[in-house]
Amino acid sequence: MNRTFYVSTPIYYVNDVPHIGHAYTTLAADVLARYKRLKGFDVFFLTGSDEHGQKVEKAALASGETPLELADRVVKRFQALWEKLDISYSDFIRTTQERHKEGVSHIFSQILEKGDIFLGEYEDWYCTPCETFWTETQLIDNKCPDCNRPVEKLKEESYFFRMSKYQEQLLAHIEANPDFIQPKSKRNEIISFIKEGLRDLSVSRTSFNWGIPVPGNERHVIYVWFDALTNYITALGYPDEQGNFGTYWPVDVHLIGKDILRFHSVYWPTFLMAAGLPLPKKVFAHGWWTVEGQKMSKSLQNVVEPNSLVDRYGVDAIRYFLLREVPFGLDGDFSHSALVHRINSDLANDLGNLLNRSTAMIVKYFDGVLPTPGPLQEIDLAFRAKAETMVAQVDGHLEDLAFSKALQSIWEVISAGNKYIDETAPWTLAKDPALQERLATVMYCLAEVQRLVYFLLTPFMARTARKALCYLGWEGEPDEAGLVWGKLAAGTKIAKAEPLFPRIEEKDA
Ligand code: MSP
Repeated sequence: MNRTFYVSTPIYYVNDVPHIGHAYTTLAADVLARYKRLKGFDVFFLTGSDEHGQKVEKAALASGETPLELADRVVKRFQALWEKLDISYSDFIRTTQERHKEGVSHIFSQILEKGDIFLGEYEDWYCTPCETFWTETQLIDNKCPDCNRPVEKLKEESYFFRMSKYQEQLLAHIEANPDFIQPKSKRNEIISFIKEGLRDLSVSRTSFNWGIPVPGNERHVIYVWFDALTNYITALGYPDEQGNFGTYWPVDVHLIGKDILRFHSVYWPTFLMAAGLPLPKKVFAHGWWTVEGQKMSKSLQNVVEPNSLVDRYGVDAIRYFLLREVPFGLDGDFSHSALVHRINSDLANDLGNLLNRSTAMIVKYFDGVLPTPGPLQEIDLAFRAKAETMVAQVDGHLEDLAFSKALQSIWEVISAGNKYIDETAPWTLAKDPALQERLATVMYCLAEVQRLVYFLLTPFMARTARKALCYLGWEGEPDEAGLVWGKLAAGTKIAKAEPLFPRIEEKDA
């Protein structure tokens, strides 16, 4: 059986430059994609850019470009960052591509023909200078919440999607599929929101032009969220059932931030229901990063720019930090001191030292040739069992998208490794020729446990893992068959490892 796995990130707006918030979702998706590939899945990993809508139109106007010129320029920054962060996406969709526009027109027409999209009138409070409609509840002191100027009641012709019709069906789906929306706290919020009653949704605009025209009525452009959400299927070649759409849909998990959960767990599923398509298997909303305790914002000039972080600390340190520091699903804080602390203590000390000490001893005591182990004693068996438990735990945690817990499980074994060296005291064994076999066993266990550690670290830190596996004499790509004890052959050539992560002086942080 060919097992498939499809994971997506949100498509990013091109009116902003990439920051750690964007990098976070993409990194998480990358780790999942890499882990599933390691496990033998046929993986489709999608990311891309959201290029239509009024915000992009306005940003382009401000920078003296056409919206497409702006998009072409900014999308390169995203793509360059993904390359720098070792993001292994399968496809990058831009909503200005023909394949996307055709798919969006198709699904819109289908729902229109079915009668679940209809032409109506939209009546709300309009702020003329901002060209924006506001609902009554959004107004502040009956004025525009953006510019504080007076608003007027205006009517605009609009297409509406009959979202109300799907309320009960959506609730039933959420009830029947407890894992559909995660984490649980967020699922409850969505359930309450739906129970308050779903209103029909305006899915077209006439107040600006930068978008996909409504089929048959070019005065309207399709609402940017209807356009954007559909990327998850247009990238697969929808409506063509052959090829990727037939192979990968429904998606295994949409990874998103908590601010866009409603779009993904209410709007998107009801659009799909109306189009008669299967729903995503899971929508997972992660938390938000603050920076040194403050909300990240352009005006506070505290936006953390991932490029410079990577230049300063290296890609794997950043990948590790973002996924280790905060449990996925909760909000977290980014601080330089926390980052430096993690690099020094987890990476340079615990991880790096273990590899360093072990490979140095194999070189010193066995000329760099991995010896054949003798019978495993209790302490060795316990160490081996810990490594085997780690393999199972990491699998379970990644199934739950608990990246931080997966890394914790790996680090428990790393700490156990450092303790194992202290307890077996190889330098004492080395003094007595009669204990040569015992020394060989200890060396073998150290190398083999670390081979498993680096197999599991591959999805998180591919470069570091490759380097470490190279010191350990492992030449192939890590795969599922290798996730068991005893694959590292005696006789393998081991080299003394250079430090994987240099320590960072706090003052240099
Ligand atoms: N274009 C829409 C998504 C359409 S998906 C069909 C969009 N784009 S965005 O560029 O504004 O945001 C993309 C993602 O970045 C969201 O998942 C959002 O949660 C995430 N983040 C933006 N700032 C963030 C933090 N400060 N912290 C964590 N993630 C954050 O929304």
